[in-house]
Amino acid sequence: MGKFVVFDHPLIRHKLALIRDEKTGTKDFRQTVDEIGMLMAFEITKDLATEDCVVKTPVGLCNTQKISQEVVLVPILRAGLGMMNGITSLIPTAKVGFLGLFRDEETLEPQEYYVKFPPCIKDSYVLIVDPMLATGGSVCHAIDVVKRTGAKNIRYVGLVGAPEGVKKVRETHPDVDIYLAALDEKLNENGYIVPGLGDCGDRLFGTK
Ligand code: PRP
Ligand code: URA
Repeated sequence: MGKFVVFDHPLIRHKLALIRDEKTGTKDFRQTVDEIGMLMAFEITKDLATEDCVVKTPVGLCNTQKISQEVVLVPILRAGLGMMNGITSLIPTAKVGFLGLFRDEETLEPQEYYVKFPPCIKDSYVLIVDPMLATGGSVCHAIDVVKRTGAKNIRYVGLVGAPEGVKKVRETHPDVDIYLAALDEKLNENGYIVPGLGDCGDRLFGTK
């Protein structure tokens, strides 16, 4: 069974409180989502593989290590883009695979509209990025699409999850690690996370 981790760190709790606040505007919302993404990515990637190497410093030779795995980030459009600057500032060499999904407002089922993955994804360390895990339909679909490439080394990172979404991903893809900044109470009748933070895509991009 993969890991299920809900981060417990004062900085993350503080920043989450900022973005949950309905009074927080686009600029601060966007900046803070990115900051949380960076903090979470730092912790998640502690299992990245490294290899030994020797570096010549100005003073002598140093036996050290460098990352030996290709990293592919897969933001689920649109809201996943909101965490990307923070994560790529930590891992500037990461490749990026885009997956465009939106939820049908009636059925809440994910509708796919764009897929573009780097060829190396199959053998890479893959991190799927989407701030909101509500019914879990979007993340499960994303994992399906990524697995179809042959990729096996897959994690998911999000900000706020509902128990319903966590259960669905755990049952459908038990091998995939889930990392969240918070696990909330429930979904409402419209499939929104309660108390959540509202519509993350709309708040990031000012579309409402
Ligand atoms: C939101 C969110 C997730 C999805 C979560 O995207 O960013 O992708 O809903 O819901 P689920 O767990 O029930 O699938 P949305 O469909 O609103 O698209 P957007 O990011 O373009 O706003
Ligand atoms: N998508 C969002 O952006 N927010 C929710 O609460 C649920 C799905």
